[in-house]
Amino acid sequence: MPDYKNKHGENWVTSDESALSDLRKENFWKTLEHFVPISSVPFPKGHKVVILDVGCGECEEGAVLNAYFGSHRFGQASHKAKVIGIDSDAESIKTAVRRHRLLGSGLKKPPFAVPTYQFILGNAAEMGDSPLIPGRVDVVLMRHQFVKQDYFSGDRNWALVLGECLKKMDKASILIITSFSDDENKLLMKLLSTLEVSVEVNALNPHRISLRYDYIEKDVAIDRFVTVVRIK
Ligand SMILES: C[S@@+](CC[C@H](N)C(=O)[O-])C[C@H]1O[C@@H](n2cnc3c(N)ncnc32)[C@H](O)[C@@H]1O
Repeated sequence: MPDYKNKHGENWVTSDESALSDLRKENFWKTLEHFVPISSVPFPKGHKVVILDVGCGECEEGAVLNAYFGSHRFGQASHKAKVIGIDSDAESIKTAVRRHRLLGSGLKKPPFAVPTYQFILGNAAEMGDSPLIPGRVDVVLMRHQFVKQDYFSGDRNWALVLGECLKKMDKASILIITSFSDDENKLLMKLLSTLEVSVEVNALNPHRISLRYDYIEKDVAIDRFVTVVRIK
């Protein structure tokens, strides 16, 4: 298992987080390491990197995003990157806040005192109206975007969300989208083909974690497909 202790030797993760959760974090790290360098988008650095995690849920990936884009090692916290998560589900946001409050508890001395996580309860299709989200971000993540799921207005939901994400990006920003299944990925590619974007990578992820349950379709996996996009 990876070492989840911070610089001060304190545990990062809450005791109720399972081994599966650790594996998921490790695989998400490997996923970023695999896919970000093969896109032509330069790695963001030289300023505090801002990552917008759209539909973040409980933001299981928050610490990984912070460490990776903050140019740190897996399992460490970086003050060079800030993760802003938005989700429309109140319980998930509550959990994300709780989880990351604990995570940052060992980082009280400067420069680690800088808040590195911010969670927003809201509809990502209306992000443009939020004063809490900067006009431009370096990285946008839509992890398991669920294009089929009808949260607000069916498939249209994610088309609207995607449109809002693109407004937060410039040519140096990177958008990473992961899909659970081939069907979901096909829907995503159809949607992307209608937009002024360049699909840098769209590939099966060697670091996916297969989900094998009787009640879900075959070949479903956590981060099964990874799509990296930038604006033209
Ligand atoms: C499949 S979950 C993915 C959660 C997390 N990214 C992950 O990979 O574990 C999809 C998430 O999108 C959120 N969501 C759906 N539509 C949304 C919207 N319009 N605005 C904000 N969040 C939304 C849901 O509440 C849910 O938490």
